[in-house]
Amino acid sequence: MPTTVLVTGGAGFIGSHTCVELLRNGHSVVVVDDLSNSSPQALARVEQISGKAVHAFHQVDIRDRSALADVFTRHRPDAVIHFAARKAVGESVALPVEYYDTNVAGTLTLLSVMHEHHVRRLVFSSSCSVYGNATKVPLGELDPVGPTNPYAASKLICEQVLADLCRRLPDWQVLALRYFNPIGAHASGLLNEEPRGALNNIMPLLTRIAVGRLDRLDVYGDDYPTADGTGVRDYIHVVDVAEAHRTAVERIGEANGMRTFNLGTGQGTSVLQLVREFERVSGRTIPYRVTGRRPGDVAVLVADPTAVARAWNWTTTRDLAAMCRDAWRAQQRNPAGYLA
Ligand code: UD1
Repeated sequence: MPTTVLVTGGAGFIGSHTCVELLRNGHSVVVVDDLSNSSPQALARVEQISGKAVHAFHQVDIRDRSALADVFTRHRPDAVIHFAARKAVGESVALPVEYYDTNVAGTLTLLSVMHEHHVRRLVFSSSCSVYGNATKVPLGELDPVGPTNPYAASKLICEQVLADLCRRLPDWQVLALRYFNPIGAHASGLLNEEPRGALNNIMPLLTRIAVGRLDRLDVYGDDYPTADGTGVRDYIHVVDVAEAHRTAVERIGEANGMRTFNLGTGQGTSVLQLVREFERVSGRTIPYRVTGRRPGDVAVLVADPTAVARAWNWTTTRDLAAMCRDAWRAQQRNPAGYLA
């Protein structure tokens, strides 16, 4: 059934890909984004790819209660997908107040506006980082959590608030999706991961090194207890993540309360394996040097993705080669990026 979905952070990397997926499946999309780490150009690309218009865009900071309330009054969404957040792990260690303010206070403001406007369906953007130093491989949703930085802690605090809220207010329907490492881009090459300022995540670094905008990759440690000593992650194609959100919106009404799902492939890839796969797909050489570990990093994080597969009969369909190929195509189509 088509719904009106309010997407916070809809101009960002995962948000914009999710908007494409929602529009292509007949949903009406209202985007709220403060553009602090994104560009309205992303929404123009969303419309180009999907051949449909975003119903409305509001440049609003989610902490701005009255502006957010206006959006709810005007558009009466059926459900909210809440991406808007700060997300750089290293930065969060230096700026914990800012991270708790945007990620926790912002989510609380959103919840209070939803409550006031009788909107009870929320898909919450959570993170595998809530698991901290993983106790096992792969990780299931019931495995212990233990965030190692303020970013991860902010996501866990939000999950805890949502779980308690659902216990007290039984008509709420919440899905928390814990993403592992989303990379890649839409196959058109029109959307990309375009962070402002310093680059932190590995794929935007690889594509920019491949085109010569950066010299080389610093591999953060080769003394982890992994096969080649470098960090192992569960990379997941961003379009698979977007599909999961569309499915979430369509299935959220099936149960009251809160449900939490991992979004990953179940496959671990080391930094050096990713470098090699990217080199193979792009035909470019990625110079690198091994440096010390990055504070807050963990050795291995791999999802057990079976819970979401069982619940929705849904699994990821795009492999590491597709992730590298699509990220590389997006880099080549947007040599200077599209942040205005
Ligand atoms: C982290 C969070 C994740 C969050 C994401 C958002 C953890 C464990 N995970 O992902 O939940 O959604 O940030 O930004 O905190 N690497 C290098 N050199 C680089 C950059 C990265 O070697 O220049 C390595 C890292 O050490 C890591 C892997 O590449 O092993 C992936 O790093 P990155 O892309 O930054 O993601 P995470 O830190 O895993």
